[in-house]
Amino acid sequence: MTVQDLPKVELHLHHEGAAPPAFIRQLAFEKKVDVSKVFNEQGGYAFRDFVHFLSVYEAATSVLKTPEDYARLTTAVLEESAANGVVYTESFISPDFCGGGDVAAWQEYLHAIQEAAQTAEAKHGITLRGVVTCVRHFGPEKAKASALCAAETAGDWIVGFGMGGDEGQGHQGDFAYAFDMAREAKLQLTTHAGEFGGPQSVREALHDLNVARIGHGVRSIEDPALVQELIDRQITLEVCPGSNVVLGLYPNFAAHPIKRLRDAGVKVTISTDDPPFFATTMRREYDMLHQAFGWDAEDFTAMNVTAANAAFCDADTRKAILTKLDPAT
Ligand code: HPA
Ligand code: ZN
Repeated sequence: MTVQDLPKVELHLHHEGAAPPAFIRQLAFEKKVDVSKVFNEQGGYAFRDFVHFLSVYEAATSVLKTPEDYARLTTAVLEESAANGVVYTESFISPDFCGGGDVAAWQEYLHAIQEAAQTAEAKHGITLRGVVTCVRHFGPEKAKASALCAAETAGDWIVGFGMGGDEGQGHQGDFAYAFDMAREAKLQLTTHAGEFGGPQSVREALHDLNVARIGHGVRSIEDPALVQELIDRQITLEVCPGSNVVLGLYPNFAAHPIKRLRDAGVKVTISTDDPPFFATTMRREYDMLHQAFGWDAEDFTAMNVTAANAAFCDADTRKAILTKLDPAT
């Protein structure tokens, strides 16, 4: 057995960002939406840099127009994840794209997604939970609407609230109202920080939003005092090495700080972010990390246990995941 065959936990996956290109092309065809600018000549997603990536992402997402489309998306995404050995995943789902921030419309999208996830679980044994995600460059008012959608549907399926989007815009603290609302609704919190923003963005995430996990967080490595704070507060990083390499943060896997962070004692986990955009899969991430750092099954299982312990799900679900990771426990 290679490390690629291990059962895996994925904590950082954008729901639309996991859409296979063929799926988006099919929907575009059905709905007569022009997505020619979304793809390159080889049929993969085409973008120049992070900000362009975000606009291509939104253009691809524009073909998803109904709850039924999100049900089909969910089926396609979970089939691919299950084929990669993922047994539990949390995906980022945005009310902005699912009903435009309206609570009643959001509930319809969510229902369709949950139904598809239930079918996928019965078929492939993969468990999905949702993290409602606001989009930073849509601004704090839209984020409040997303947080209200999250609060109204918080429970054992919608388990968290987070923020993605352009880290270059505004400050984490601009979104404190939305995060406070989500916290009041007993949702657990994460935000993208320390990807395109430096260590200061991670500090703001910890101090101004009081999150339990950080999406990426890798640029914390530039500030030893911050690395210590991550260790002291037992913050879990949702690290997406292949995404960081494609978006130009690091030239290759060997130069990626995930090993230095882990060796320092930070809780690191492994995810794909938007796998087809970054020409990656969970199997490939494990293979590349094995090649770059020599990590073996014991290392990867330890990181999967870290991920299971940092998952926002309830205790019974966590226990079931841990059993899948190591049937002896
Ligand atoms: N990073 C930040 N925001 C995003 C991403 C991402 O990878 N995908 C979708 N929104
Ligand atoms: Zn992300």
